[in-house]
Amino acid sequence: MSLNQPISDFKNKNIWLIGASSGIGAACAKWFFAQGANLVLSARRTEPLELLAKGVSNSAYIVPIDVCDQQSIAQASKEVLTHLKRIDLLLFVSGVYEPVQANTLNYLTAKKMVDTNLLGPISVLEQLLPTFLAQQSGHIAIVGSVAGYSGLPKSLVYGPTKAAILNFAESLYMDVSPQGIGVHVICPGFVSTPATAINDFKMPALISADEAANCIGQGLMNGDFEIHFPKRFSRFLKFLRILPYPIYFWLIKTFIKT
Ligand SMILES: NC(=O)c1ccc[n+]([C@@H]2O[C@H](COP(=O)([O-])OP(=O)(O)OC[C@H]3O[C@@H](n4cnc5c(N)ncnc54)[C@H](OP(=O)(O)O)[C@@H]3O)[C@@H](O)[C@H]2O)c1
Repeated sequence: MSLNQPISDFKNKNIWLIGASSGIGAACAKWFFAQGANLVLSARRTEPLELLAKGVSNSAYIVPIDVCDQQSIAQASKEVLTHLKRIDLLLFVSGVYEPVQANTLNYLTAKKMVDTNLLGPISVLEQLLPTFLAQQSGHIAIVGSVAGYSGLPKSLVYGPTKAAILNFAESLYMDVSPQGIGVHVICPGFVSTPATAINDFKMPALISADEAANCIGQGLMNGDFEIHFPKRFSRFLKFLRILPYPIYFWLIKTFIKT
């Protein structure tokens, strides 16, 4: 059952894609360009955005943003809304991942992940929700992670930021869905990107960024609230979280070698 209005196609749809300079976001930009969407591409680094735009379309509009900086968010939101006039999809992909465990826990690393992965989308939505609510239409999609389902090794800070964004999306859905606004939370498993290149363990069910972009596009077209993939991995983790803790911890220790 679709919890959101399915998006029949992306042709001429106005999309603001935040976190488009690399990895999953860059692959999504290519996917949406191929579908004929009007895109505004954002991230802190504009050089990779310009290269990306040059390669796929001459209609891309680039707006730099630092999602940890309130002034930058306010300025970018204003510019995007002036340019697009109406917004059909906000896709928030930006995020940072650093493996943290008990012996490497520190405030500054934690703050960076909380600011980017959790307060980043919340701050952007503070600027954009009035427009969505006035339109009574449009879709908000935020990239979370399967790491938000339950505790995982080396995920001492990243996991909690993604658990919180999942919870945020659930609450937002209840608030704005009756007003015609779609909400989607995207939970990828392991995707091969610069962010995961630092992992020193074998990542189970690893997929490419292009495969991830295709899953995201298809999930939005289906109207899914939660878009999770690859299913062989995300369904396994969903199953694990309903088990009693002694079994859960034993299985994680057995199957995830770090
Ligand atoms: N790769 C995976 O296996 C995986 C799995 C589950 C979830 N995810 C999630 O997927 C998303 C994308 O990850 P990825 O693997 O594609 O990583 P990536 O290649 O490192 O890309 C991260 C993106 O976030 C942007 N970003 C980081 N900090 C930012 C800031 N302060 N302001 C604006 N943009 C910022 C980066 O752009 P700039 O540096 O140019 O600003 C870049 O475009 C993240 O939310 C991540 O948590 C990834």
